[in-house]
Amino acid sequence: MAESPMSNPSNRLAPYAAMDALRDDVRLLGDLVGQVVREQAGDHIFALVEEVRLAAIAVRDAESPDVESERALLQWAERQTTADLRSVTRAFSIYFHVINVAEQHHRVRRLNERERADVPLPESIAAAVARLREQGVSQERITALLPSLRVRPVFTAHPSEARRPTLLLHLERCATLLTDYDIYRENPRRRRAIEDDLRAVITLLWQTAETRTERPSVLDEAQSVVRVLAGTVYDVAPQVQRTLESATLMTSPSLPPEPAGSAFLEPGSWVGGDRDGHPFVTADVTRAAARLARTSVLRRYMEEAQAIGRDLSVSFRMIGASDALMASLERDRVELGVTPVAQWADEPYRRKCGLIAERLRRAAEDEPGGYPDADALLADIRLMRESLLDHCGQRLAGGRLWDFETRVRIFGFRLCELEVRQHSARFTAAVTELLQLANAQPYDTLDEAGRVVALEAALTAAPIALPAAALSAETRQTLAAFDAIRAIQERHGEAASRTVIISMCRAPSDVLAVLLLARESGLFDWSGSAGDLDAPAHARIDIVPLFEEIGELRQSAHILEALLRIPVYRAALRARGWRQQIMIGYSDSNKGAGYLAAAWATFGAQEALARAAAAHGLALELFHGRGGAVGRGGGPMGRAILARPPHASYPTLKVTEQGEVIFARYSHAAIAERHFEQIVHALLRSALEPPEGEPPAEWVETMERLAARSRDVYHQQIKENAAFLRFFREATPFPELASLNLASRPVSRQGRGGADEPPPNLADLRAIPWSFSWTQTRANLPGWFGIGSALREEIASGGLERLRAMYVGWRFFATTMDNAQRSLGVADMPTFHRYATLATDGAPQTAMVDEEYQRAVSAVLAITQQQALLERSSVLARSIRLRNPYVDALHLAQIALLRRYRAAPSGEVEAPERARLLDAIHDSINGVAAGLQETG
Ligand code: PGA
Repeated sequence: MAESPMSNPSNRLAPYAAMDALRDDVRLLGDLVGQVVREQAGDHIFALVEEVRLAAIAVRDAESPDVESERALLQWAERQTTADLRSVTRAFSIYFHVINVAEQHHRVRRLNERERADVPLPESIAAAVARLREQGVSQERITALLPSLRVRPVFTAHPSEARRPTLLLHLERCATLLTDYDIYRENPRRRRAIEDDLRAVITLLWQTAETRTERPSVLDEAQSVVRVLAGTVYDVAPQVQRTLESATLMTSPSLPPEPAGSAFLEPGSWVGGDRDGHPFVTADVTRAAARLARTSVLRRYMEEAQAIGRDLSVSFRMIGASDALMASLERDRVELGVTPVAQWADEPYRRKCGLIAERLRRAAEDEPGGYPDADALLADIRLMRESLLDHCGQRLAGGRLWDFETRVRIFGFRLCELEVRQHSARFTAAVTELLQLANAQPYDTLDEAGRVVALEAALTAAPIALPAAALSAETRQTLAAFDAIRAIQERHGEAASRTVIISMCRAPSDVLAVLLLARESGLFDWSGSAGDLDAPAHARIDIVPLFEEIGELRQSAHILEALLRIPVYRAALRARGWRQQIMIGYSDSNKGAGYLAAAWATFGAQEALARAAAAHGLALELFHGRGGAVGRGGGPMGRAILARPPHASYPTLKVTEQGEVIFARYSHAAIAERHFEQIVHALLRSALEPPEGEPPAEWVETMERLAARSRDVYHQQIKENAAFLRFFREATPFPELASLNLASRPVSRQGRGGADEPPPNLADLRAIPWSFSWTQTRANLPGWFGIGSALREEIASGGLERLRAMYVGWRFFATTMDNAQRSLGVADMPTFHRYATLATDGAPQTAMVDEEYQRAVSAVLAITQQQALLERSSVLARSIRLRNPYVDALHLAQIALLRRYRAAPSGEVEAPERARLLDAIHDSINGVAAGLQETG
């Protein structure tokens, strides 16, 4: 077998004795990729791959930066034809795609191994309970928490997954084959067959275009999310619930009683509902997405009922069954007009399952006799459970039937809640038009107090109810979203869609504006008045302000307080159980003010909101809008939960799950289960462990200073620096990213950002392409910029010991530093310098980033007391080190391609060549994302 350069045993993957299996997989896959590349692209490309890999290693291994070899490397890439660069790029990206699968597979293997030890796995639910018990927390307190413990992942279609679903499908197949390989490693015949299958998958990867020719539609994206929710999430949810109940209720895991009061999971989705900056999300799309979700979960229930029916061959003659169950069989038969299966005459559970499946089919197809809702299905499942329990069938009731019931409780007939989001400006525009038409009131020119007065008056008067024809298309569209919610609620129940999120929420009037629009659609109604403030309201939605700019985050508690003084809003909240959800935006705050200021503002907002809510007895739920990258609020989830302010350490976590994070966390059942366990572990601990204690005032003051200083540096050097924004456009693949058809949503809110357009305005640019572009160049600056200057000044004025104490004694600060450390550790200044050569006059900007980077690194090392970054994160450090030379090749190809593309004339004649170059650039972007396992 030809040895692949990609699996060369000297390739520094060797020293990991404990990781033999992973090393073997990597070697095997490297070999196979090499063979396929040779078959498909020939010896020439195979040789080029080897050449650039070795050259990159040599440059990385050099003692000191060697200008000559550096130049040679760049020139190497410049010399290659576009076709060859593309082939080399594809070879490396396919290598990374499959290696990523091997690493994921290894994680599953390690989980299995660690579980064999029969002690609670670190960060598991059992470990949390054991720890709490050791700390003296009573079993009763743990049990009492169960009803309020809730994990609410909200799946979004944010454009941060570079891999097409088709590619993900091939990679899932690759994972299955690796699992088989573990079983048949010692069986030469089976092993060879699996290797052949792997070659076929890799050939498919080679021959499948990495990028789409068209943007996906919103419904394509809805399909992808539904596939995960009705796939692994559906599969693993009962197991996590079982683990949770057995650990907290102290029951036997194999014999759970009837499911406890509430389920731990409440999934949501924005796909088809999030219309912020997304013109293609219409009311029809929203309704279609909800239908799709419903159909897919009903289909799974049908399969499950049939499978349970096949299992439950319990004979009436042997053990009997309850009268209620027997009566229900007859009732169903008559109602559905079906003929009983003769062979099942004696098997009531089989018959019941068959009837359940039939009612589910009819529900899915809207035929008479279908279940009207999930409660009716639950009632049938319970009939079976009770009958089994009364007839020596506890073990049978506690198995698949229990899982089924748990799933129905979690997913209902909706699968997930479809949430709606829109920009505050769109709501304001709609309200302005309505009030203008209704009573000639110039709403948008009013100040905040005037707006609130106008909205209160409108909300206590009769609905405006203008005919649709009188309204502009935009306003009709905004109102149609509320009509869609109403229609979904009528069709699938209120829980299927009841949340409206206001992005860029700035004031109480933004919230009242939504209440008014909801009222126009019949989702809100209040007959109160100045004389009757306590009149009950009728409200069918929760309005969720999203605070995502630094100023608004700092003002968020005041905005909440102000809202709570408005009678009509109080009435709305009372109608919703005196509960308020508030969303915290991590990315836009970062884009607007830099890493440290955003971290501090998001933390402070949680603290202040929690205090304000507590003072009013209001049940607050915080919704965290986090992305995968540190610069967008990413980082280890468990630590983030434990680092919440003590007042905001609720036993619930509502959080966005976006893009590549979805595949990483939910593509494999064992990993999805582990992910949920880690979250629940952290929630149990943060809710029940003694809180960390208030940070001393001087720590808070220090953070205030650091945040302010870092924000000033960020504003001055980046946000308000036109030269820097030009540099951003030239030195990163940002313009080319805009045409990468990752997702259905345009890259900027105003639809700008294309290759031939002026430098972006940072406020208009969405956070994802901003962060994505910096990740590609390895500058990663959204994850650290500004901390260097701020910390250095603090250290220079004698604050080092205090900063060290903060790092040791304050989870928030430790997490903030460690997350920045991750970004700094993955950043790579030599690579960034190569990208900087793409910019004209980029030297001052490059030097500025460089200096700030050096300041950040030395300050972080001083505070964390390490010699090198990531010293205590050996797995990550090792992974970066091993991957670097391979990613180098991708960066080099990308830089050469960008230079060529941007220099190529854009006249008609050149169009095919430009298209080829752009394709190759897009491939390189995907390759770098695969190599770094992060888009940004
Ligand atoms: P948004 O998300 O632009 O949709 O608000 C930003 C992000 O998740 O980074």
